[in-house]
Amino acid sequence: MTDTVYVLNGPNLNLLGLREPEIYGSDTLDDIAAMLEDRARELGLAIDMRQTNHEGMLVDWLHEAQAEGARAVLLNPAAYTHTSIALLDAVRAIRTPVIEVHLSDPATREPFRHQSYVGMAAARTVKGLGARSYLVALDAVAEL
Ligand code: DQA
Repeated sequence: MTDTVYVLNGPNLNLLGLREPEIYGSDTLDDIAAMLEDRARELGLAIDMRQTNHEGMLVDWLHEAQAEGARAVLLNPAAYTHTSIALLDAVRAIRTPVIEVHLSDPATREPFRHQSYVGMAAARTVKGLGARSYLVALDAVAEL
């Protein structure tokens, strides 16, 4: 196993900072990557941060995380959280632990966000803390 933690981000998260800042905050994904890298250094971990707008790419990266011996995956599947059985199956298919991450708390938003397929298989879920959700999730990797 390596010390690398994959941080995989789904659709529309490339627009973080501009996108509905009242819900998601003003930090960009690059800002979050920089925060994670600082924290990872303290924890003796390394970060591999990625974003895609494509569901199958997330599936491929989950498979890759296992093949490359990643320590864990932090996964913000964005809207695919609520729709994707393919992502649920991928999380179940790999032995690499996956922590589900959300900036907002989907359970307090529209009813269609209350269901999380990924959450059915994730080792744990960190949500509702804005950018800090990612940092808390990274700290949790050390406890897995
Ligand atoms: C999100 C919550 C999802 O419901 C939404 O579709 C997103 C972002 C979050 O981080 O709060 O795109 O995953």
